[in-house]
Amino acid sequence: TTKLKLELVTKNIRPFPDFPSEGILFSDISPILKNPRALTAVIDLFEDHVRMTYPQVELMVGLDARGFLFGPLLAQRLGVGFALIRKKGKLPGPTVSVSYTLEYGKAEAEIQEDAVSAGQKVLLIDDLLATGGTLYAACELMKKQKADVLGCLVVIELKDLNGVEKLKPFPLFSLVQY
Ligand code: PRP
Ligand code: MG
Repeated sequence: TTKLKLELVTKNIRPFPDFPSEGILFSDISPILKNPRALTAVIDLFEDHVRMTYPQVELMVGLDARGFLFGPLLAQRLGVGFALIRKKGKLPGPTVSVSYTLEYGKAEAEIQEDAVSAGQKVLLIDDLLATGGTLYAACELMKKQKADVLGCLVVIELKDLNGVEKLKPFPLFSLVQY
């Protein structure tokens, strides 16, 4: 059931205080990846939500690096493709980029120009929402590409930082909230 799957996912997230810097509570998803049942539960829960809410989705777009762990698995389940948003300087050919601020630092996100087409219905996926800076940057990239962002999916949402507000009007779906 959904409840058991959510319990399994929650049990397999490990908090590390003061990483990578003081005051940051790092949510480690490594135990999920180590446990095939927990990983299957994550993908099952995302799949249920997407089939119910976004049956029209045409492409999953995942964020470097931990969005890559869940995105392709979900895309394959849904029978759609997967595209990469990477940190700057990693992608060959023509790219589009945006800069953004993180909970702990600054970065630049990039996508290949031909990864998404105008009007394509996309869902963004990452492991975690903190300030929302990363997913917001991804939404900005999608806007530049004129893609139609249906929403964002994350395993973990850190409620206190109110990233969901930053993402508006794009809706967020999270499996676990802290
Ligand atoms: C972490 C996490 C999210 C982002 C969330 O990634 O995986 O992508 O921070 O923070 P935000 O909502 O405040 O933007 P990070 O940039 O640390 O790198 P990684 O995924 O490459 O490990
Ligand atoms: Mg990340």
